Amino acid sequence: TYYTKAKFLTSAPDIRHLKMDEGIEVAFAGRSNAGKSSALNTLTRQKNLARTSKTPGRTQLINIFELDEQRRLVDLPGYGYAQVPVAMKQKWQRSLGEYLQKRKSLKGLVVLMDIRHPFKDLDQDLVHWAVDAGLPVLALLTKSDKLKSGKRKEQLMMVEEAALAFCGDVTVKTFSSLSRQGLGDLESVLNQWFKL
Ligand code: GTP
Ligand code: MG
Repeated sequence: TYYTKAKFLTSAPDIRHLKMDEGIEVAFAGRSNAGKSSALNTLTRQKNLARTSKTPGRTQLINIFELDEQRRLVDLPGYGYAQVPVAMKQKWQRSLGEYLQKRKSLKGLVVLMDIRHPFKDLDQDLVHWAVDAGLPVLALLTKSDKLKSGKRKEQLMMVEEAALAFCGDVTVKTFSSLSRQGLGDLESVLNQWFKL
């Protein structure tokens, strides 16, 4: 598909270091270990495009991948990782909020959460910010392969219910990088945001 064209463009320690703010950007955010980097690799059919790890907090830089001159995917550092010093957490939360509010090219936010532990406080804060900023959100319940289909549906319905409270454009889907479940759904939401 279109997403296989993704190429690493640049890394930045924070959003102030991102220069060009043209075209369309879609960012992947979520708790450490939620499966952001894995989802990007699955989407782009590239094993090692984004670095994945069993150790939470692996992605510490904002990594930008280019699809074409007008379109970019963004792998954001995870939040909620206990081992990170408080000062760093606060700094990151500030710059994440700033990115959501000020980045003109940002046209959609994928919030990834482990389907077994969805919608923690920080996830809710993030969705709140995005909705406030007028951004459409895809809440992606990752690692769906970890649950049987009954329990999977149960979790999906629970998060859909919770998402209604935000009164914004919040879509909920399940996804697995391992089984590729939900890959078509992810692509069709991204296609809309990228206007493909
Ligand atoms: P940070 O960069 O630390 O914020 O983490 P991340 O959100 O980028 O997570 P990453 O993609 O590195 O994956 C974290 C761990 O979850 C790795 O051990 C992955 O192999 C595992 N994982 C990711 N996606 C899936 C999935 O769909 N199914 C299963 N079973 N494991 C997964
Ligand atoms: Mg990562």
